[in-house]
Amino acid sequence: MTAAFLTARRTGPLKGVVRAPGDKSISHRALILGALAHGLTEIDGLLEGDDVRRTAAAMAAFGAGVERLGASPDGGGRWRVEGHGGFSEPVDVVDCGNAGTGVRLVMGAAAGFDLVATFTGDASLRGRPMNRVLKPLGEMGARWICRAGGRLPLTLKGGGLKRIAYRLPEPSAQVKSAVLLAGLHAEGGAEVIEPEATRDHTERMLRGFGAEVQVTEEGTGRRIVLPPGQALKGTRIVVPGDPSSAAFPLVAALITPGSEVTVRGMLLNPLRIGLLDTLGDMGADLSVANVREEGGELVGDVTARHSELEGVEVPPERAPSMIDEYPILAVAAAFASGRTVMRGIGEMRVKESDRIALMAAGLAACGIGVEEEPEGLIVVGAKRSNHLVAGGAAVTTHGDHRIAMAHLVLGLAAEAPVHVDEPGMIATSFPGFVELMRGLGAEIAAGQPAAV
Ligand code: S3P
Repeated sequence: MTAAFLTARRTGPLKGVVRAPGDKSISHRALILGALAHGLTEIDGLLEGDDVRRTAAAMAAFGAGVERLGASPDGGGRWRVEGHGGFSEPVDVVDCGNAGTGVRLVMGAAAGFDLVATFTGDASLRGRPMNRVLKPLGEMGARWICRAGGRLPLTLKGGGLKRIAYRLPEPSAQVKSAVLLAGLHAEGGAEVIEPEATRDHTERMLRGFGAEVQVTEEGTGRRIVLPPGQALKGTRIVVPGDPSSAAFPLVAALITPGSEVTVRGMLLNPLRIGLLDTLGDMGADLSVANVREEGGELVGDVTARHSELEGVEVPPERAPSMIDEYPILAVAAAFASGRTVMRGIGEMRVKESDRIALMAAGLAACGIGVEEEPEGLIVVGAKRSNHLVAGGAAVTTHGDHRIAMAHLVLGLAAEAPVHVDEPGMIATSFPGFVELMRGLGAEIAAGQPAAV
């Protein structure tokens, strides 16, 4: 995809059955745990987006054998990782590209070993806060030097770690995971207390690799204890479809008249499906079938049909279970009647871009009423008094894949075409997005806004 812009136009009914690409969170973790383990790990359905490829390259740089065996029958790749039970020192800088999850988890894993490693990333990643992981890793005994404000590039010196009991100041599965991965090689293991439960793929997968992880519910949160002296053993992992990617075709179906779209094999981990609950509250016609367990995770087939949506107030405590889905929820809200109030989402400002600011700007440029708050976003649905969603904007994505996909979906049901810049970035999480959407009938093509 080399076009400088992609353009989405008003489209007829979207119809079809698709498979979402492999879950990004699970793909990163499968490679990292495979590299930390002893022996062979085979991964089926690995997401082959740029973010995950960077983690694969990082694992090779830390000494694991990493090989792509071919394409998986259900999409994604079949990969093999040969771990040696530890990391060795990389001979060059580790470039994690756009991937916040990649760099934070790999830093956590690397901190457990007596090595020096320098990490960097693209302009977006170099602007994101690393202090949130450096603080607990420092308390465990890791050392580093970095740019002001805990920014990349950063050189980490690992080894000699001691136990930590860390209470997360923000609900972040990345920070939790970095501490647990470092804890694998800390004297005394590690303990993390999260006031609000966040995605638990690291805990589940550690168990899949043979580790003991104790999890206790505490109110809305959890206490996770990783006892010391764990040895991971290579295993087989099947990566389910990413609900954060599935969200785009599903919402496209909800807002495009006459549509019916099914996403097969989508991850249904309860800590990841806040969007389905919220869309359900808005009156979306969604159904889930064929629910099954695969590799320790629930998966199922989710069908969305065009629906008359109503605005809702999203419970702030739901945010961790749908934090990456607010951009596309804001698009659904634009087509609803009434206001949709999203609060307690300050974390959105430190993602690949400031997603509150960019969604507010993009929706406003498409003729939607929005109110931006320091930690919130309110969208005034166009269906209130039968207004239409105007569209007709050229949206600046700041290289953020989810901002790009959200606005392209909006363009499918808006009056005038919507253009997004830097569309190549979509491949960080959803390679094949344009082709998949076109297969459903979407009109998305390379195009240049008239005014540019
Ligand atoms: C992720 C956790 C979330 C999420 C990110 C993936 C993970 O970030 O936004 O896309 O795989 O652990 P935070 O931990 O910063 O909330």
